[in-house]
Amino acid sequence: MEIWKYGNKAMPIFFVSTQPGFEEELCQELQEFWPYLLNKEAKPHGIALPEVKVIEGGIELTVDEILGLQINFFSKLAGRVLLRLGTFRARDFAELEFQFRQMKGQLLRSESVRLEVTASQSRLNNEKRLAESFSNATKVKILDGDDVQRIYIRMFDDQCTVSLDTSGEHLHFRGYRLEQGEAPLRETIASFCLRKMLSSTGAAETQKISLLDPMMGSGTFLVEAADLYRPNLRRSYAFMGWKNCPALMKSPSLAANYPIFPRLFAKLVGRDQSEKMLEISRRNLQRAGLLGDLARPMVVDLAAADIFSEAASEFAADQDLRTWVLSNPPYGNRLPSDRGIIHYLQQIVRKFNPEKIGLLVDSQQMKDLVSQKKHLNGLTIISENKFRNGGLPVSLMILSAVDRT
Ligand SMILES: C[S@@+](CC[C@H](N)C(=O)[O-])C[C@H]1O[C@@H](n2cnc3c(N)ncnc32)[C@H](O)[C@@H]1O
Repeated sequence: MEIWKYGNKAMPIFFVSTQPGFEEELCQELQEFWPYLLNKEAKPHGIALPEVKVIEGGIELTVDEILGLQINFFSKLAGRVLLRLGTFRARDFAELEFQFRQMKGQLLRSESVRLEVTASQSRLNNEKRLAESFSNATKVKILDGDDVQRIYIRMFDDQCTVSLDTSGEHLHFRGYRLEQGEAPLRETIASFCLRKMLSSTGAAETQKISLLDPMMGSGTFLVEAADLYRPNLRRSYAFMGWKNCPALMKSPSLAANYPIFPRLFAKLVGRDQSEKMLEISRRNLQRAGLLGDLARPMVVDLAAADIFSEAASEFAADQDLRTWVLSNPPYGNRLPSDRGIIHYLQQIVRKFNPEKIGLLVDSQQMKDLVSQKKHLNGLTIISENKFRNGGLPVSLMILSAVDRT
C-alpha cells in the first residue's frame, strides 16, 4: 500500500465500524440516508454515493468531510465513524515518528487526545512504545477519559493506519436510554432486527401497523422503531468539539435543514411483567419524545402484563391496524423449564394474532423453533439471521402468519 495522507487537497476516507455480520445492512442503510445529507450551504449535496468497500467489522468510503460526519447522525447500525488521517509503511521508530510529525496539523483539532493502539504481525509490535513514539513526535497532550478525543493507531503487517474518532461516545448510546434492565439489548442490534423485520416494507406502509413488544424491558425496540429513519441530534459527537468543526454541524437550527422524517408505525405497544421495567420504559420513551403531545399522532400504549396472564383487558387489538410483534424473550437458561420458547410463541399468537413476528433467541431456542415446526400453529419461518449479542450466539427468527389457514 502506498503512503496516503489526508491533507488539504485529498478527499478524506471514512471508516464506519459495525458489528461483524451487519456490514451489508450498513451499506444498505447508507444508500437510504445518503440523499438526505447536507452540504456546507445546508442544501442536499446531490453527489452520487461513491464506491463503498466492505471490510470485516465495517465499511470504508471516500467522501467530503461534511458528508462523512453526518453518518454519525443517521446510521443506527454504526458503532463509530473514524476519519482516516493516514496510512503508511513503518519498520523502525524513526520512520514512524517522521510520519506522525507530518500529521500533526490534522491532529490539532483538539487540545488533547486519548490513544487506542493495536499492533500485530509487524516489526513494531509493542503498543506501549508505539504510543510513546506518537507522543514524542507530535507533542500532543495524551490523556485518558471517556470524553477525550480518541486517536486510533493500528499497526498491522508493518502498515500503520492512524484515524481520528468523529463519534465520541459509542453510537449505540442514543441519548434517551439512561436507565435499563438486566439484559438490555444494544440499540444497534435492535435497529438491525427492525430493518430485517421491515424488509421491503416502506415507511408509508408502516402507518397501518401497530408494533408490539410483549417483553419490552427498557423499551429499546419501541424507541428504535420510531427513530429508525430519523437523524439523532439528541446527543453530541466528538467532531462537534473540533476547532475546525463546520459551523453548520454545530448550529442549533441544524435539524430544521433536514426534511421531516416520519416516525415509523402508527402505534407502539409495550408490555412487561415487571412494574419496574414499565416505569423505566416509560421514562426512556419520555426522553425520546414519544410520550405526551410532542409525539402525536403516534399512539403509545405501555402497561405491565405477564404474557401468560389471561386478563382480558390487557390487550385490545385495533380493528384498523395490523399487528407486528418484535421481542427478545429471556434466553432459555433464564426461563422456567415448563415455559420454553414454543410456549411463548404460542401465547403471542393466541393473544395478539400478529401478522409478523420477530424473536431474538439464543441458539437452543432457535433449535427448538426449527425442530418443532409442527407446533408453530401454521406460522412460516421466513428468515433467520445469526449474529452475536454480547458474545452470545443469537438468531433473529422472523415468522409470518400471512398464509396461515
Ligand atoms: C431480555 S429482556 C428484554 C430486553 C429489552 N429488549 C431491552 O432492550 O431492554 C426480557 C424482558 O422480558 C420480561 N419478561 C419475562 N417474562 C415475561 C412474561 N412472562 N411476560 C412479560 N414480560 C416478561 C422481563 O421482565 C424482561 O424485562
